[in-house]
Amino acid sequence: PTIGIVIPAAGRGTRAGQGCQKAFRRIGGDTVLNRVLKLFRSWNTNCPIVIVHHADDISLLEASIDRDSNIHTTTGGVERQASVLQGLRFLSSLPKSPSHVFIHDAARPFASHSVIPAIAVSDTLKKTDSNGLIQATVPRDGLFRAQTPQAFKLQTILRLHEIAATSTSSYTDDASLLEEAGLPVRIIQGESRNIKLTYSSDFEEGERLLRANSP
Ligand code: CTP
Ligand code: MG
Repeated sequence: PTIGIVIPAAGRGTRAGQGCQKAFRRIGGDTVLNRVLKLFRSWNTNCPIVIVHHADDISLLEASIDRDSNIHTTTGGVERQASVLQGLRFLSSLPKSPSHVFIHDAARPFASHSVIPAIAVSDTLKKTDSNGLIQATVPRDGLFRAQTPQAFKLQTILRLHEIAATSTSSYTDDASLLEEAGLPVRIIQGESRNIKLTYSSDFEEGERLLRANSP
């Protein structure tokens, strides 16, 4: 197989706050997005990488990454789902379009070279009603938290995203499109350090992770 990477980075980072979109914020001296690029480049030096960004972020983006000739950029959409679709279309339109794709959120700079990682749920899970009152404790056997990267056959996930774009359902997780289509998806062991930078406090946690790992 040949592999390409799609990195959705077009969100607004509303929950993290701090004024600057989180992919372009620095953590341990490098931008979040550049860490993600280095991760994939340490694994493969020249596979095509498509960064999906917001139209307002072009100059921030250029200032935030070390470019090479196989790093491409394209603009995203209002929801992550739309951004992923734009990235997949771009990858598929390249002259040497790959057979497979990794989709990986810019907001997860601490991943290592794993595919479709997921972490067994260890917290006690509660189901609530719309007022926030607990209705039940949910058994956690067989429950996993999905992470990225997630790996797919490029044409399969592109086709499913094209179909999803015409429906009213919304998806925050790409693997769920295959699940709904009845296609098998395998989970592999994830990594607890592969946190998603969602809130400002996650950046502090990320800084701690980096300090704990530096010699
Ligand atoms: N993303 C995207 N396009 C969107 C929304 C999200 O490419 N329209 C990307 C984000 O940039 C991020 C990933 O999808 O890398 C996961 O989304 P999330 O963590 O929700 O990031 P944001 O949408 O930026 O943050 P928030 O929801 O707090 O605004
Ligand atoms: Mg979001």
